[in-house]
Amino acid sequence: MLEVDALEVNYGRTRAVKGVSLTVSEGEVVTVLGANGAGKTSLLRALQGAVRPSGGRILLNGRDMTALTPAARVREGMVLVPEGRQIFVSMTVHENLLMGAYLRHDQDMARDIEAIYDRFPNLAARRNTSASSLSGGEQQMLAIGRAIVSRPRLIMLDEPSLGLSPLFVDRLFGLLAELNGDGIAILLVEQNTSMALDLATRGYVLELGRTVISDSAAALSRNAALTEAYLGGGAGEAPAAPNI
Ligand SMILES: Nc1ncnc2c1ncn2[C@@H]1O[C@H](COP(=O)(O)OP(=O)(O)O)[C@@H](O)[C@H]1O
Ligand SMILES: [Mg+2]
Repeated sequence: MLEVDALEVNYGRTRAVKGVSLTVSEGEVVTVLGANGAGKTSLLRALQGAVRPSGGRILLNGRDMTALTPAARVREGMVLVPEGRQIFVSMTVHENLLMGAYLRHDQDMARDIEAIYDRFPNLAARRNTSASSLSGGEQQMLAIGRAIVSRPRLIMLDEPSLGLSPLFVDRLFGLLAELNGDGIAILLVEQNTSMALDLATRGYVLELGRTVISDSAAALSRNAALTEAYLGGGAGEAPAAPNI
């Protein structure tokens, strides 16, 4: 369903993504791994439409998304849960979920939001309180709930487990498995390599803006030593500072 062809992202002279190609099939889970600075966030932001690629093409079900706005891409069925969640902390939980639905014009929106509350009782109990009062894990659930309300066919997530307690990491991965069971394809950027590879069918490893490995998740899991070599900050370099 998603076909990314030779994507390039530049920030001035910094070449963050240097010709990355990848695919995600209907209903598939694909993970993108790589050290800090590998270009994962830049790739996802280009897929979202927040940054304009310097080269390459993005196709969703054969339709060219490359020049579309982020809102138009959400309408086409692809949505990003960004790094650091980026919920609206000055709004209530409910208002955040409504933001996920603002592109929709159908009558099922209220029902979909109730379905989110059924899935996340913590959010239901606090629907009219400020999103700023939620824990980090609850904020991540809200960010995913907001994405689900847009009725995506493909959810992209940028390091969703970052900063979560082990309990919430388990809940997060359980939720992703459920969403995938509902037929939603997932493109997952994760630091938690083993959990990401357990969920995914295939994975790509990026290093300094290029794809260095593309293989089945099973093969990547078996080859943990090789994969890990690309996740610690690059060949012989000091680990990159965490980017927030
Ligand atoms: N807004 C930006 N302006 C300039 N350089 C950036 C910007 N965002 C990221 N970069 C650079 O692009 C490269 C890839 O970063 P990023 O996509 O955030 O990688 P990752 O998500 O894999 O850590 C890094 O060298 C980073 O410093
Ligand atoms: Mg990143």
